[in-house]
Amino acid sequence: MTEQTTRVYRIARPVQGVPGPDDFELTEMTLPPLRPGQVLMRTIYIGIAPGVRPLMPYAGGRPDVAQGAGAGRLAGADDDVPNPTRMNVGERMRAGTVPSDSPLSGGTVGRVVASRHPGFAVGDYIFGGRYWQEHEVVEGAAALRLDPSALPIEAELGLLGRSAFTGWIGYRRFCHARPGETIVVSAASGAVGMMVVQLAKAQGLRVIGISGGAEKCAFVTGLGAEACIDRNAEDVGAALDRLCPEGIDIYFDNVGGAIQRLAYDRLKPFGRLIVCGMTAAYNTAGEADVGLPSGIILAKRLRVQGFVVLDHGDDYPAFRAEIADLWRKGALSFRQHVYEGFTQTPQALADCLSGANAGGKLLVRVSPDDSRPG
Ligand SMILES: NC(=O)c1ccc[n+]([C@@H]2O[C@H](COP(=O)([O-])OP(=O)(O)OC[C@H]3O[C@@H](n4cnc5c(N)ncnc54)[C@H](OP(=O)(O)O)[C@@H]3O)[C@@H](O)[C@H]2O)c1
Repeated sequence: MTEQTTRVYRIARPVQGVPGPDDFELTEMTLPPLRPGQVLMRTIYIGIAPGVRPLMPYAGGRPDVAQGAGAGRLAGADDDVPNPTRMNVGERMRAGTVPSDSPLSGGTVGRVVASRHPGFAVGDYIFGGRYWQEHEVVEGAAALRLDPSALPIEAELGLLGRSAFTGWIGYRRFCHARPGETIVVSAASGAVGMMVVQLAKAQGLRVIGISGGAEKCAFVTGLGAEACIDRNAEDVGAALDRLCPEGIDIYFDNVGGAIQRLAYDRLKPFGRLIVCGMTAAYNTAGEADVGLPSGIILAKRLRVQGFVVLDHGDDYPAFRAEIADLWRKGALSFRQHVYEGFTQTPQALADCLSGANAGGKLLVRVSPDDSRPG
């Protein structure tokens, strides 16, 4: 193979607040020659996930959701052996949160353009890229071959992706939901939230979503939620009082921050707070520190449950089979918002982290999707 270069986004500096385009540097890199077991992939879609933000270097105080310490190396970054809990200045920007050898940690899909793995041929579509780059050397052992005639290839990042799996595992494993209970779901129009909303409806719960904007809220009620509170236009506490006069059985928390406390205060006895994500806190140390009075946990016999989807890889095949089946039967809705062009990737992440998106799973189309018929 002749030497090939590719464009790649690297982290340009420690980031203040929501990362913007200036926080990334678009660079050229020479791809290493393929070793046995590797394939060269042309990236077609990058999945955007808010969970990469706490791994990025912070210019100011780090919120308590960020792992690791320090603002990162300023020079000489070497991302050949990436730290799973932290990204440094100069490193390639990750699409998946953890660059492990599990297919679950992939973050991009694409097409094989050269292969030294017996299981992958040139022309195959695969899931398993990890970085914001146009071509990538991927370990075949950590990639999945896709069948575009069964499902659209980007389903790996959305419908069957890690965020949807997070919603599925969080609901099925930790909510301990019963028909007739009331569940409140924040970021309800997002990739995790829309899965939880639909699973809860299917089980006969009363579902109240919270989302930012009338259009996103209309999508959530279209999924079957009884109501959706527009956090940009309504007093969320007053709306919860109106919509849940007897309280909340389960709060599925995707955002943390002020909304977490509003829902927590309204949990019923034996209520459950499921701590899935803290997007409101990822960009600043400020909003994370609302504090939850722990006496209420005792008095109301609450259950507070955090979880990390990567602990549940054994359930991934069952999730994929169930969701693909529901999708083919038309029993599941899924929304995605596609940004066109590789250079839109930083903006897509900024929109995801600020809520300035149209809801659904955010994707960037990096190169033509030639898997589509016609
Ligand atoms: N526990 C795990 O293993 C695991 C795995 C994957 C993801 N997660 C977490 O699950 C959560 C949802 O992920 P996702 O991929 O589905 O993301 P998402 O909901 O598509 O995107 C984040 C959303 O958070 C909301 N938001 C942003 N800033 C906010 C603020 N200041 N206050 C309230 N809401 C705000 C916005 O939605 P609205 O404008 O509609 O409110 C935004 O669109 C994230 O926190 C993610 O990190 C956890």
